[in-house]
Amino acid sequence: MTAPKKLFIKTYGCQMNVYDSERMAEALGGQGYVETKSADDADMILLNTCHIREKAAEKVYSELGRFKGLKADKPELKIGVAGCVAQAEGEEIMRRQPLVDLVVGPQSYHRLPEMEARTRTGAKALDTDFPEEDKFEKLKNRPKAKRGPTAFLTVQEGCDKFCAFCVVPYTRGAEVSRPADRILSEARDLVERGVREITLLGQNVNAYHGAGADGDMTLAQLIWALDKIDGLERIRFTTSHPNDMGDDLIEAHGACSKLMPYLHLPVQSGSDKILKRMNRSHTAESYLRLIERIRAARPDILMSGDFIVGFPEETEEDFQATMDLVQEVNYGYAYSFKYSTRPGTPAAERAQVDEDVKSERLQRLQALITRQQRAVQDSMVGKEVSVLFEKPGRQAGQMGGKSEYLHAVHVEGTGIGVGDLRRVRITASGTNSLGGELV
Ligand code: 5AD
Ligand code: SF4
Repeated sequence: MTAPKKLFIKTYGCQMNVYDSERMAEALGGQGYVETKSADDADMILLNTCHIREKAAEKVYSELGRFKGLKADKPELKIGVAGCVAQAEGEEIMRRQPLVDLVVGPQSYHRLPEMEARTRTGAKALDTDFPEEDKFEKLKNRPKAKRGPTAFLTVQEGCDKFCAFCVVPYTRGAEVSRPADRILSEARDLVERGVREITLLGQNVNAYHGAGADGDMTLAQLIWALDKIDGLERIRFTTSHPNDMGDDLIEAHGACSKLMPYLHLPVQSGSDKILKRMNRSHTAESYLRLIERIRAARPDILMSGDFIVGFPEETEEDFQATMDLVQEVNYGYAYSFKYSTRPGTPAAERAQVDEDVKSERLQRLQALITRQQRAVQDSMVGKEVSVLFEKPGRQAGQMGGKSEYLHAVHVEGTGIGVGDLRRVRITASGTNSLGGELV
């Protein structure tokens, strides 16, 4: 019997990449690969890349450079690049870094086994097509291994919104929703394997409109169908666009007990002028009114968001409008980025904001967000939450998990198992997590 070949996958970027990496590992499992945690003993290295911001692609090239020594020692080592940088750069990657054997875009992962076989003949393999077939359906022959208590499940991919700063519509392609029955059977399978919480993924997840038995289903209808699965305790979804926040989804936040009170709803800016130039097709006011409605349905919902500072033509006044909006919303989590030009997107051609100005604004915004996050987290002290335990905590005897609001919580562990869902009273708030005791 030949020893299994070893596969090392490094994943950058969003949760969808995490999901895709799992699928790729399973697909290559059929080619005799097992995963390894270190690049040093790998027979194949795959970088699953992200192209959302500038530095991400540069990191990929410098990471590839570091494999030079490994490949010199082991010429049969295969190096592949997957994900959105692969889609955007294509052949350019092999030109810029000749030690790359394989380049595969996100829509072609089901072709990975053939591509790997091709590299074994010494040829290079490139596939950045947008094929018609359902890649997840083709990737389905996975082993029935036991899983941890939480899992991601992609329900929708791509985006038709074309925000002026964003590469996603180009790298992930047009918006496509998976049929509901495939999602439901994948969810049932995950639950059978020990999963208790599923996060539905999509670049525009609330635009979901996959085929159901009686026509297209909305995300809310899909959530209600998942709600019926015994053993599935928690449902989350990410990332949403404000314009696709349908009434039924808002209602579900109030009525579906398995749907967790956490919503990632990026707004990007608080200035209507900038929102318009970003092609966001909502205003700061419409976003705030939307949050009012969501909070009316689910008063304790924890809001999270994304912000870009220094978008072309952003003035100090525009930036202040963003600060004001953050003040008004009171986020539990928020992610903020300096605008970075993405080749091929409309905003890349416009007059750019000075780099120092961007950095200074980012600092002010992050300081505000940090204070706000911390205050929201501190306000949990004294409250009772439910915690899904995922793993031993940092200190001996502790178990760690997530509350319904996605706060990390650790508890002294006597008698708590991985996958347990328990009521916990929060007693302390630290830098990045809460401490508590079982009720
Ligand atoms: N520059 C900076 N941030 C960006 N994002 C998307 N594109 C860019 C860009 N060109 C941010 C947005 C988005 C998040 C995933 O990344 O805030 O919501
Ligand atoms: Fe990118 Fe999101 Fe805008 Fe789509 S909605 S273009 S994924 S930022």
